[in-house]
Amino acid sequence: MENSIIQNLLKKQEEIFLKKFIVGNKKKEKFYKEHGVINILSPGRVNIIGEHTDYNLGLSINTAINKYIFITGYENKTDYVEVFSKYLNDSNKFSLDNITFDKNTSWINYIKGVLKEYIQHGHKIGGFSIVVDSNLPIGAGISSSASLEVGVAKFIEELFNLKVDKKETVKYCNSAENNFVGVNCGFMDQFSVAYGKKNHVIYLNFKDLSYEYIPFDLEDNLILIINSKEERNLANTEYNKRRKECNDAVQLISKITKDKNIKSLSDISLDLLYELEDKIPEKLFRRVKHVVTENNRVLLSKEYLLKGDIEKLGQVLFESHNSLRYDYEVSTEKLDYLVDKMSKIKGVYGARLMGAGFGGSVISIVKKSKIDSITDIIGGKFFKKFNVSPDFIECLFSDGTRRVKF
Ligand code: GLA
Repeated sequence: MENSIIQNLLKKQEEIFLKKFIVGNKKKEKFYKEHGVINILSPGRVNIIGEHTDYNLGLSINTAINKYIFITGYENKTDYVEVFSKYLNDSNKFSLDNITFDKNTSWINYIKGVLKEYIQHGHKIGGFSIVVDSNLPIGAGISSSASLEVGVAKFIEELFNLKVDKKETVKYCNSAENNFVGVNCGFMDQFSVAYGKKNHVIYLNFKDLSYEYIPFDLEDNLILIINSKEERNLANTEYNKRRKECNDAVQLISKITKDKNIKSLSDISLDLLYELEDKIPEKLFRRVKHVVTENNRVLLSKEYLLKGDIEKLGQVLFESHNSLRYDYEVSTEKLDYLVDKMSKIKGVYGARLMGAGFGGSVISIVKKSKIDSITDIIGGKFFKKFNVSPDFIECLFSDGTRRVKF
């Protein structure tokens, strides 16, 4: 089923590619032979648990999902990169000799940033032409940007035969987003996209990017993403504020304890935190509490996953949401409303806001057989209250970014 859906999408993608670059089907075989056309499938990601832990060198459980960006293209033997985005119905062309930030076309910067990273690291790349399409909604908090970055990285690695370790790919893409695009995100998104594995989730330690795959066969269940459609306007500023608060807390705690081994909030235990409660400003205390308890929730979730206890895992998701809401303060009225209503519906194991917060999506684990009633109830209630229909995205776990044939 899943394979035939992908095949159909790829057929569509091939048609767009042929129309754009080859003019018709006739010359296809000859063109493919001469140019070695490459096709990449790059997934989005979900984060099951472990929010705002990546830049605190903590833990999370995340993975890739079966919603994708498609990249198809070939080496054009010029110094130019030519991109047609079917999804956005927009084109762009730039020279590899002069890669500069584009103030007017934000999406192209993800591609430019990745190419710049590879060039700066001494990789030899030439011009190419690509078509990009997607069934991965932009702005829903399922990492279309990381998917595009890792997809483009994989495309040039295949096209120019670059030998790059997968962890390096993740680092280049993350650096492109931090340093070229200007979004100060952690490693979670790019890692999930690159390392996803069908029917598994990734237990990831951000201290050294070590990871384990944990089997998670959804069987009669589904991951349901609910996109509140609330724009994450504040996300960037507030995200950076949280990062700064975390750094300040590390400085303060290592100063009070005179312990030089405390280098991140993930080096602090809950016991130590409570011992220091009177010595830390109340707001900082809550920020640290979220990170420390969230790491503990990841450990607990790992245990439940290994035992196959989805009910208990779901409860941990609700607890994570409360911590993000009250201690880390990154939730919104709409996200709280969704999680609250979900918690009262039969067939919902757990739900919580996903990603940076301040809008975007809620992730939930639900019974497949109840999906229609869940979406009806939530869709209806949410519309009545906010006059907006949320989007529902059903997903399964998928392999990471990969090369595929038409
Ligand atoms: C955003 C960032 C991630 C991570 C999450 C919060 O999605 O891109 O790196 O920090 O927020 O967990």
